[in-house]
Amino acid sequence: MTRKVRIAPSLLSADFGKLREDLAMLEEGGADWLHVDVMDGVFVPNLTFGAKVIETCKALTKLPLDCHLMVVEPEKYFDAFVKAGADTITIHVEAAPHLHRQVMRIKELGAMAGATMNPSTSLETVREVASDLDLLLIMSVNPGFGGQKFIPASVAKVARARTVLDEARSKAVLEVDGGISRETITACWRAGADTFVAGNALFSAKDPKAEIAALRALCAVQA
Ligand code: DX5
Ligand code: ZN
Repeated sequence: MTRKVRIAPSLLSADFGKLREDLAMLEEGGADWLHVDVMDGVFVPNLTFGAKVIETCKALTKLPLDCHLMVVEPEKYFDAFVKAGADTITIHVEAAPHLHRQVMRIKELGAMAGATMNPSTSLETVREVASDLDLLLIMSVNPGFGGQKFIPASVAKVARARTVLDEARSKAVLEVDGGISRETITACWRAGADTFVAGNALFSAKDPKAEIAALRALCAVQA
């Protein structure tokens, strides 16, 4: 089976003073999605952006906007974010006691519905909705900040996530987020992931466009 590789640069690491140029550069470099980290300062100890910035990105790029909501009561934002241009909305199971209802609502609004969990949270939290998900995100760092070190146990969790999706006959995207770099991407790809968020590794590279290609190549050649 050929798995499509997606590289999703994280907006968190972009230079907001030259957002237009950064987004154009990512598009030119062949990025597949733009990963948008929404943090509310409550679910995670950091505050980032909301609907206004999603709308701004939508106007500046054709890249699908992959919105990762690290917020409590995520359902409060579904309508506004989809209206602003969110293509995927991924919510944390720790903040979603009615995960099935919330996933269905995201789909009803026309966006792809994703679920994710902190590194310490079990995959069992998504098993019952696996066939309803469009995307399953494995956090390979504790959410809240860019530039953290990849947690090695995440590779085995990606492999278990692959099994959960396959057992549910789910075609969901399997995405990994946190500390993805040339050193960590291949193991995640081999474990069954297809979509990779990259913040620090990409934006701190001398040539971010070449880095997108390098990360992609590390998957393609070693399937
Ligand atoms: C962490 C965020 C990530 C982060 C990834 O809370 O969810 O998307 O921006 O950045 P790096 O690749 O620097 O770990
Ligand atoms: Zn993220």
